[in-house]
Amino acid sequence: MSIIRNPSESALKKTHLNLAIIGHVDHGKSTLTGRLLLETGYVDEKAFAEIEAEAKKLGKEDFKYAWIMDRLKEERERGVTIEAMHVGFETPKYFFTIIDLPGHRDFVKNMIVGASQADAALLVVSARPGEFEAGIGPQGQTREHLFLAWTLGIRSLIVAVNKMDVVNYDQKRYEQIKSELTKLLKILRYDVSKIPFIPVSAIRGDNIKSKSSNTPWYNGPTLLEALDAIEPPPRLVDKPLRLPIQDVFSITGAGTVVTGRVESGILKVGDPVVILPPAKVGDVRSIETHHMKLEQAKAGDNIGVNIRGVEKQDVRRGDVLGHLNSPPTVAEEIVARIAVLEHPTTIGVGYTPVMHVHTATVPAQIVELISRLDPATGQTVEQKPQFIKRGDVAMVRLKPLKPVVVERFSDLPALGRFSLRDMGRTIAAGQIIEVRPAKVEIKR
Ligand code: GTP
Ligand code: MG
Repeated sequence: MSIIRNPSESALKKTHLNLAIIGHVDHGKSTLTGRLLLETGYVDEKAFAEIEAEAKKLGKEDFKYAWIMDRLKEERERGVTIEAMHVGFETPKYFFTIIDLPGHRDFVKNMIVGASQADAALLVVSARPGEFEAGIGPQGQTREHLFLAWTLGIRSLIVAVNKMDVVNYDQKRYEQIKSELTKLLKILRYDVSKIPFIPVSAIRGDNIKSKSSNTPWYNGPTLLEALDAIEPPPRLVDKPLRLPIQDVFSITGAGTVVTGRVESGILKVGDPVVILPPAKVGDVRSIETHHMKLEQAKAGDNIGVNIRGVEKQDVRRGDVLGHLNSPPTVAEEIVARIAVLEHPTTIGVGYTPVMHVHTATVPAQIVELISRLDPATGQTVEQKPQFIKRGDVAMVRLKPLKPVVVERFSDLPALGRFSLRDMGRTIAAGQIIEVRPAKVEIKR
């Protein structure tokens, strides 16, 4: 029996959002996440009763919520639990998949390597004297996580000012934390007017599901209300069609079928399409999803497309399908902003890790280190650095050593965010700022 309940069918029909829980070590991420799962009915009652009894026996009752997450982690490690995909909770509008992150660097790895990408972040900051200050200090992860979340394209943020019980629900302490965080968030360019700051106690349960009488001075939303009020990520139906190919099949009697998720645009039966980089042109014969025929598919749909005029051996995973009149961009060179997560030594010009972008994997060489940026502010601190290392943020020029389709992050996030891997490790995460397109001839 798993500690976490499976979502119902109706929950899975709701808009799905990936939520990253971020913040400094020990500020209460796991406790608050456990509490959210419990309050929304996603924790198995019997399993939780066992945890409660054990916590009581050990005189550690405050740990019971965090233990929900620990138990889940154990289950995952033993491989007995539900798919990571479906661990979450629901609000009236959304089903949230949660990514609870330990308060150190692994956070980024989880966020970018996992198939799911965060649409929004919940920042947990402790109000306890000294703890808030450590998190927001130069070495603190409150600061680091906010910057990385921004670098990875997260624009939707909620701040939970946690452990309010420790400071007797003092409004002054809350206002002080809010004002210091506001300063930092403005430097990072977050739109502060849209960010709720919610005074909570993960352990006592204040302002999580219902308004707390301990904070009569607070008029904002509860945490669950704020989560339900997140603006859904834009549906990219108005953008050019992009379908990164996951798999290619040859089906007897039907012909070539490619599968994948439509990241942007709309695809209709009969449309003339092109698959790049191989520049193969064809027409859409049929579209299906879960064995149902569709007349059209739009951004967000997982589909199989039967294409006339293209052979199975002509296309591969990582190629991208688009409309013939608005073809995907094949990159000659890329300018990107990267954050170096880990590297044993230093990175210089000539370094050639493997770039993972949408469904594609290609070797890419660093051909120029353009500048090094202040991780906290994004301001340039050094032009043309000789090397970059772990913890650095930099603008670099990358040359894919094989043709690959990418787009600017600002145009199409799903095709503009990537990771660099080497020797089985994630070295860096980045966003594509500019693309110099390669010349590709497309013939009908
Ligand atoms: P890492 O995963 O190690 O980064 O920590 P975390 O952010 O997940 O913190 P965790 O939930 O493990 O909580 C850290 C400590 O703070 C534990 O001792 C909790 O019991 C305590 N704590 C968490 N939330 C609250 C709260 O609202 N009030 C009080 N008084 N203590 C809390
Ligand atoms: Mg934790």
